[in-house]
Formats: sequence, structure tokens, C-alpha cells
Amino acid sequence: MASSIRSILAGAGSYLPERIVTNDEMAATLDTSDAWIRERTGIRQRHRAGPSETTAAMATAAARRALAFAGVDASAVDLIIVGTSTPDQAFPSVAVRVQAMLGIERGFGFDVSAACAGFVYALSLADELIRCGRCRGALVIGSERFSRILDYTDRSTCVLFGDGAGAVFLRASEGEGNDGILSTHLHAQGSLGDILFVDGAVGVADAAGTPLSGKLRMNGREVFRHAVHRLTETVEEALAANHLLATDIDWLVPHQANIRIIDSMGRKLGIQQSRVVVTVDRHANTSAASIPLALTEAMTDGRAAKGQLVLLEALGGGLVWGSALVRL
Ligand code: COA
Repeated sequence: MASSIRSILAGAGSYLPERIVTNDEMAATLDTSDAWIRERTGIRQRHRAGPSETTAAMATAAARRALAFAGVDASAVDLIIVGTSTPDQAFPSVAVRVQAMLGIERGFGFDVSAACAGFVYALSLADELIRCGRCRGALVIGSERFSRILDYTDRSTCVLFGDGAGAVFLRASEGEGNDGILSTHLHAQGSLGDILFVDGAVGVADAAGTPLSGKLRMNGREVFRHAVHRLTETVEEALAANHLLATDIDWLVPHQANIRIIDSMGRKLGIQQSRVVVTVDRHANTSAASIPLALTEAMTDGRAAKGQLVLLEALGGGLVWGSALVRL
């Protein structure tokens, strides 16, 4: 028998590191320019974490704001899932570090490794765990310090990414209503793993025994091509599953990688630009944090309101991609 429990998105919060790095600052040490970066990506600046702005610290700051938005305290949390590719340590997970920083001891938590689709993956898992009755209050967080895995001599990647964190609080509801997470769809194609990856991990060394700390490597053109195609497909899949048209969506909150990807998708789907939440100009690509950062902005500046339909979609290294449709 189908469960009648659903997950309500009760609050959102985010954290951005204090330090802002402009395109001009990048161009001071790299063969690039503000004009090139803006024209090809839409990015004007990115935030870069300082030593105390760890993945867990940023995640906790975002989580506290999401809890405050929802009007609950940390005792309402019995699940924490963090989407991240840049944890501070191989283990413990960022999720349980957040649990400790929030001062709670109940429930359980773990990290999800799904690159830029990490938040959508984490949201889908949390929704399933709530629906099957395993928990009643879930923090779903995306937190990333991509500045640690960038090769600052590679102009085709290092200008694209930034640091930050975003979080939502989901609560179980058994009452009547049509709000909450309406659907999630997840996909993966591991055969495309070599077009966007990190060339190292804890304990991995090259043939000479030199540790490979791991830097992001990407075939930008290939990723771009697959992103437009797969993301359009997953949005269409979400609309079809819910018997909706693109015009029914109040807000599209896409993963923020490149304004050209966002615009071509919007055009293909016939979604008006004014209905698309864009932060890539100010945040750059913050990987798993980009959707909750953008969603928080739209939910706190008066755009995304209760009762509205919000469609989230992301694609990342793997390739992995997916979507979530939420009624606020
Ligand atoms: N500044 C100046 N020139 C740059 C540059 C930079 N930061 N980065 C690359 N270039 C140069 C290249 O070296 C190349 O020069 P060449 O023609 O002399 O060889 C030229 O610009 C064109 O490179 P190309 O890769 O064709 O550019 P592009 O229009 O495809 O834009 C990306 C490059 C990376 C911005 C684009 O491919 C992209 O956004 N891809 C998707 C990446 C992404 O979103 N990844 C994350 C997904 S989660």
C-alpha cells in the first residue's frame, strides 16, 4: 500500500564565504580576461573559503539558517545528508560533523558523492527515507570547497567554480495537502566518467609514489553538449510524470554551471527567462551547493512563494543527473 507520508520543504538557508574573487583578480595571475569569462560563462565573481570556512562549517551555517527559516530547532532533525565532493576528511562524513556542530546526538547521517548533482541526489534519498517512515525531520545540504581541487594553472576550469553551502529542512507530513516533494528522478552514465573527474583521492599516488591530491579535469565542450541534452530530458521527464507543462512551473532552479547551458535549456523547454533563478554570475559553479544557494535566494527575496511549483535540475561528473519537483 502506498505511504501517505510526504516531505514538506519547510525552510532553506545558505552560506557564502566572505572573500570574493573577481574575474579581474583571476586575470592577474592567469591568461584570461573578465570579458572572456563573462561572455562564455556569465560568471562575474566567485566566493573562496578561508581556512576556518571548512565544508562542515559552511554546511552547519547554512543548516542553522534553514532551521531558523522553518522555525524549528536542531532537535527536530533526525537525518542529515550532505551532497559534497570536497569533504574535509575521508571520514567522518561532513554530515556527522554537522550533527556534532548542531549539538544533537539523535538520528543518522551520511554524505552523498554525486558531484554537481549531489543536492538533487541527497534530496531524493531524504524524501524516500521520510516517505518510508525512517525519519521525520531531515537536513539536506550541499556544501563545497572546490577551491581545494582546482588547478589554478588551467584557465579552462579554475575560473568556473566557487565555494559555498546551501541547505533545506524537510519535515514529514501526513496531513491533507498537495505541497511537498512531488517527484524526483535520478540518472547516471558511468561510461562518461572521463569527461569530468578529479584525478586523485586519499591514499592515491602516482607511479613514483608522489601523493595525488586530486585536481578537477574536464572536457568542457563534451560536458556542455551532454548537459543541455540530459537536463532538457530530465525536465521533460519530471513534467510528464506530474502531467504538467513547462508553463505550469513557477520557478526553474537549475544547477548553476554556465549561463549558456541555462539559457539554451530554457529556450528548448520554452520556459521564460524571468522564471529561471540565476546566481551563476555571482556564485560561479558551487557544485552540490549551487541549487540550495539559488533556491534560498528565491525563497528569501520574495520570488518563490508558498504554493508555487519549483523544478530543480542538475548534472555533474559521473555523469550523474536528475531533477526534483517541489510545491512549496
Ligand atoms: N580565458 C580565456 N580563454 C580561455 C579560457 C579562459 N578562462 N578557457 C579556455 N579558453 C580558450 C581555450 O584555450 C580555447 O582557445 P584555443 O581556441 O586557442 O584553443 C578557446 O578559449 C575556446 O575554448 P573552448 O573550450 O572551445 O571554449 P567554450 O566556448 O567551449 O567554453 C567552457 C569553455 C569550459 C566555458 C564551456 O565549454 C563550458 O562551460 N562547458 C561546460 C562546463 C561545465 O559546466 N562544467 C561543470 C558541469 S557540472
